[in-house]
Amino acid sequence: MRSLWFENDSLMIIDQTLLPGEFEIVKLKSCDEVAHAIKTLMVRGAPAIGVAAAYGLYLGIKDSDEMDIDEKLNRSYELLRSTRPTAVNLFWALERTKNAAIKARPDGADAAKAALLNEANEMADEDVETNRKIGEYGNALVKDGFNILTHCNAGALATVDYGTAVGVIRAAHESGKMVHVYADETRPLLQGARLTAWELKRDGIPVTLITDNMAGFLMKQGRIDMVVVGADRIARNGDTANKIGTYSVAVLAAKNNVPFYVAAPLSTIDMNLKNGSEIPIEERNHEEVTTIRGQRIAPEGIEVYNPAFDVTEAELIKGIITEKGIAYPPYGESLQKFFNS
Ligand code: MRU
Repeated sequence: MRSLWFENDSLMIIDQTLLPGEFEIVKLKSCDEVAHAIKTLMVRGAPAIGVAAAYGLYLGIKDSDEMDIDEKLNRSYELLRSTRPTAVNLFWALERTKNAAIKARPDGADAAKAALLNEANEMADEDVETNRKIGEYGNALVKDGFNILTHCNAGALATVDYGTAVGVIRAAHESGKMVHVYADETRPLLQGARLTAWELKRDGIPVTLITDNMAGFLMKQGRIDMVVVGADRIARNGDTANKIGTYSVAVLAAKNNVPFYVAAPLSTIDMNLKNGSEIPIEERNHEEVTTIRGQRIAPEGIEVYNPAFDVTEAELIKGIITEKGIAYPPYGESLQKFFNS
């Protein structure tokens, strides 16, 4: 299932805020619309955000001419950069597509536009290929009969297609292994319940939904063989930012001797950051905590803290599954090798 595609000069996305109740495809015709869709999580998940932003940048300059293309490129770039701070794929994708346009700029505005669109298309195709490779490498870690826990949604919906953490599960399932998934519901926005459970059920992969606070009990009972999650940004020492609650799962996994893996493309690794303390953590609207799908569940005026991500220290991570292979500690060296190869 492709989560986004470009057609007739528009970015088509599945509106993820409506799932699983409604399956609606939305047409985004401008950079402003793409920025709004990213901000409101209509399109979400690190790789999907990056590719959507790349197309958004193209939409920002598509109607420009020799006079205003440079200004429009910069304005659109800044607007898209301001949408969400944690997933580094956003910044990586904008840098890459902007540079493609700048490189072709001496040949005129039309050449710059064509180069940018071409780069965005390549990025979208690469993402699917990358996820399949992550799936292949990750599959080697999965044994027949495994029960795998995942948190949030790192599936086809969070990427262009196939998924990263869910890609590993998908590859194991496709290779004929019996795998069963426990999906954390993932409060506050329920990406696990609404998206992962929906996606896996749709694809015929056995899945059981649990609330976030049940994971430890299941591990203690020996019901979980492996945890695999996605990532929004990985510092060069392996510290990993992912959806809030991931850190708790990692601590529980360590306590119960359950291997904890992160699956992510190299575009999620930020080699500029020494460790996880440098990763910017997005804080979101209080209503996400005080309400569930519009229904108030807390008193009016209550104080709320709503960080959207947390950071899991490298020492809690058994391996990082990338499209170049599985990196093991010390990550500073193993990740660098993948960038050099
Ligand atoms: O706030 P979200 O839904 O964009 O958060 C998504 C996650 O935390 C995913 O696990 C991460 O982006 C990896 S997606 C392959």
